[in-house]
Amino acid sequence: MTATGGQLSARSYHWDHAHIRHGITPHYLDFEHYPLPAKSYLPAEIIPLETHDNQTGDTPASFAHLLSHAYGVTRVRRGQIPFYYRTVPSAGGLYPCHLYLSITAAADNAETGVYYYEPVRSGLVQLRQEKTGQNNPLQQLFAGERELADVRLLFIVTAAFYNSAWKYRARAYRYMLLDTGHLVRNITLNPLIRAFACNTAFDFDDGKVSDLLNLNSAAEVPLACVSVNWDKSVPDIVAQTVNHTRPCFPPVDDRSTEAAYLQDYPELRAIHSAGIPAAGQVPVPETAVTDDRPETVFSVVSESTRSLDEVPGPDLAGCMIRRRSRRNFITSPVTAGAYLQLFACLSPGRNLRDLVRDTGLRVGLVCRKLEGIDDGFYLFDRQVAVLHLMHRGNLAPMLASVCLDQAWIGQAAMNFLFFSDLAALDTARGPRGYREMMVAAGMLAQQIYLGAESLAMGCCGIGAMYDREAADLLGLSSHVALVYAVSAGPVKRR
Ligand SMILES: Cc1cc2nc3c(=O)[nH]c(=O)nc-3n(C[C@H](O)[C@H](O)[C@H](O)COP(=O)(O)O)c2cc1C
Repeated sequence: MTATGGQLSARSYHWDHAHIRHGITPHYLDFEHYPLPAKSYLPAEIIPLETHDNQTGDTPASFAHLLSHAYGVTRVRRGQIPFYYRTVPSAGGLYPCHLYLSITAAADNAETGVYYYEPVRSGLVQLRQEKTGQNNPLQQLFAGERELADVRLLFIVTAAFYNSAWKYRARAYRYMLLDTGHLVRNITLNPLIRAFACNTAFDFDDGKVSDLLNLNSAAEVPLACVSVNWDKSVPDIVAQTVNHTRPCFPPVDDRSTEAAYLQDYPELRAIHSAGIPAAGQVPVPETAVTDDRPETVFSVVSESTRSLDEVPGPDLAGCMIRRRSRRNFITSPVTAGAYLQLFACLSPGRNLRDLVRDTGLRVGLVCRKLEGIDDGFYLFDRQVAVLHLMHRGNLAPMLASVCLDQAWIGQAAMNFLFFSDLAALDTARGPRGYREMMVAAGMLAQQIYLGAESLAMGCCGIGAMYDREAADLLGLSSHVALVYAVSAGPVKRR
């Protein structure tokens, strides 16, 4: 159950909650207490944000658009329980993540505002507004010597245990982390943010961040921060966002304080608590993903492709708004131009390269019908420039079988696979490394979603898998786990 020294490790948590065929105990899904899509701070006033008003994303870049493109509601499915579709996918559609921001004014009159982004009513709730004198209070949230004097804007992504545990119980932590990664990537790819130096940070003090946001730590925990060297003043930002004329989605019930929503999940608290101490600073050494040697190597870089960092802002915003999980894959061949462009979108980009390297996250591919490439299981090199063929043949139907028999996976032209050597991760970075690695996987997965959308392909995350069967199918080395997968490829368009 535990690693050396009695401390819960990434490896023990991950494998203790592996799915086993015929071993999943069904449990009651309490639809009376379906997880809420947003927190309610009633009666606090909400500062309405201008919501995106078309499906093209062809709107002026503003702070309001940044938030709605990052985590906004894109569509509502009415019914007994309304479902709020969002710009990011979420395991089970349960949306455990919450987004907060802290904005500090210029240092000579330092004033800090802390806000909750309320996606359903599309507004900001101000949680705090403090005069903080000369010091930038964001500095105190972080350990180490990092220079934060210019960080005026901080995004904080938290996740509520209840939302994911409602369905996934003790396995939920991995989904909370992956969901966090999807959201963080939508923030860091935003053109407004790309204009400033920004950093996805994990070296914050969980307790101080929880205090800043006034979180109930038994129910909701901070998982990642994005710090931005934003150089505009507080009033400019907030004034820009205020627009009282736009309609908002109807309010959700304020049931968030009911006992049913405050259940305790000891396994989730335990793995999260294990990751509260700072991560080790040592990068995870490069270990073998499988015990096999590659048969052939294919270069997959092309002059004519562009990474997501290079996609013009409005085009990217349009992809964020239109994105959905599409599973109706068809078995048409994929041209080299199309798959090379998708691989270029997977390239980690400047904000993510170090995190992927330090956490030792590796990416693989099960593909079929890609022009000029044999069907098979491949590993990408760290630069996503070269594919190493590990097994020849169409593995997609078998992958579908080990992913809880989700047949559509067998039809997808490309199944991207994320691997981690959990033993090496534990040794190099400790349990907080699990947090970093899973968030990094979610971030790369969001790039695949956006890249697929830009190419009019379908895409869907896969968190449901018989973990040991997946490792056996792919011949993974003993400590390596498949931690996430994403299908992509041509789909039937309605
Ligand atoms: C971490 C993660 C795991 C997921 N796993 C699966 C899965 O195993 N099977 C599936 O059909 N969809 C899966 N999805 C997709 C969600 O079901 C989907 O995002 C959600 O229902 C919301 O729908 P939308 O993405 O179309 O907005 C996953 C999504 C995420 C982010």
